[in-house]
Amino acid sequence: MTRYLLAIDQGTTSSRAIVFSQAGHAVASAQQEFTQHFPHDGWVEHDPEDIWTSTLDVCRDAIANAKIDASDIAGIGITNQRETTLVWDRETGEVIYNAIVWQDRRTADTCERLRLDGFEELVVQKTGLLIDPYFSATKISWILDHVEGARKRAEQGMLAFGTVDSYILWKLTGGKSHKTDATNASRTSLFNIHTQQWDDELLAAFNVPLTMLPEVLDSSDDFGVSDAELLGAPIHIYGIAGDQQAALVGQACFQPGMAKSTYGTGCFLMLNTGDKTVRSENRLLTTVAYRIDGKPTYAIEGSIFIAGAAIQWLRDGLKLIGCASEAEALALESGSDNPVYLVPAFTGLGAPYWDPHARGAIHGLTRDTGIADIVTAGLQSVCYQTKDLVRAMQNDGACYKTLRVDGGMVVNNWLVQFLSDILCVTVDRPKITETTALGVAYLAGLKAGLYKDLNEISALWECDQRFEPNMQPEKRERLYSGWLDAVERVR
Ligand code: G3P
Repeated sequence: MTRYLLAIDQGTTSSRAIVFSQAGHAVASAQQEFTQHFPHDGWVEHDPEDIWTSTLDVCRDAIANAKIDASDIAGIGITNQRETTLVWDRETGEVIYNAIVWQDRRTADTCERLRLDGFEELVVQKTGLLIDPYFSATKISWILDHVEGARKRAEQGMLAFGTVDSYILWKLTGGKSHKTDATNASRTSLFNIHTQQWDDELLAAFNVPLTMLPEVLDSSDDFGVSDAELLGAPIHIYGIAGDQQAALVGQACFQPGMAKSTYGTGCFLMLNTGDKTVRSENRLLTTVAYRIDGKPTYAIEGSIFIAGAAIQWLRDGLKLIGCASEAEALALESGSDNPVYLVPAFTGLGAPYWDPHARGAIHGLTRDTGIADIVTAGLQSVCYQTKDLVRAMQNDGACYKTLRVDGGMVVNNWLVQFLSDILCVTVDRPKITETTALGVAYLAGLKAGLYKDLNEISALWECDQRFEPNMQPEKRERLYSGWLDAVERVR
């Protein structure tokens, strides 16, 4: 009998479900965008009901589109926007505040205070992260301090915290399973990545009660069984990983020194460092790449908050383009030698700047600047930001020869070629660019026994196109120094 895997990819702007065959081919999929809420400058929220109903709908649609029986699914994998924080009542299931999204900057002052109080070294040493509103801990504390009675209920064990994976798992299992995996736990600022446990000292520093936290399992593990009513059959949830870590698995970057960069709402560059944690001196993050059979593999990560979201803004905010795919033709028209720079610091700047107060700008406008130049600047901003990360990694002594790229944006050939040119690195695009969903399907498939080991998964990776750098060094340096100058102006 053919067995399938169902991957749930709950991202920042949409929920997706893909049915994969054992060979790693997408058989059918479904996707739903949902509303983003921006209640104040720098705040970003999601309605938890939107997260859940869109997820359930796309799972049902993907199974229906695949024309398979739910009982043919060997396992479910859940991958998710990381750090986004939900708190719910264990008894009633009611989520007590909207999901506070990873991009949200409302806790910038709390973070500043923690830094002034000297907590940064503790956090960096134990979690591999920095103190920044990006991570879950200060968001949890904010909810406990701003929803009436919440802190008391949390201390009494009545409330549960979860990142989005945990919340979906809890809903899928009808409230039976409150668990997460090590990759998601490693993004909360509460998880000690060396001991692989929630850490009392961190919990005290961020003022979060232990009773709220989910149990932490491997990324390929038995997380529970879905309620039979929901999808037409009870199905084991066998894989969970944060979306960037899942993409690393989908790209089969299993050897130390292999790197991938994913272009979704944001952009996340991750380099596998094997069983060793590498501490960055250049404000990159150390994180759990995946944990299998109790053994963590680590990665060094650069996180950019706005990549695809810049193109979404050009489309929906400025209405300069009708759809994202128009951007490629406009870039061909404008050309790479573009004096216009778009710094998309809409919610501050991530690595390596970590400046929550920076805001976006467009620089270099002249009387003859046209729509094509501004849209091109949007695409180029994604590549320049990747170069910021690569330079930081190189300064940390972390090197790689080839970069594997994925995510919605990399269908744009112009973008990937400019990326290769500006980085001066060979860039490989795989046949399947939905590597996030694929990666978590692999993790679920491992536990379900569809794959023997990671080598078998590695053998399934196929290159679609290789992009070689082809830009004069003088031009590369001139363009990039223009970017650095533009960034300095928004800080
Ligand atoms: O850390 C945030 C990240 O997981 C969000 O990913 O794909 O929604 O941009 P994405």
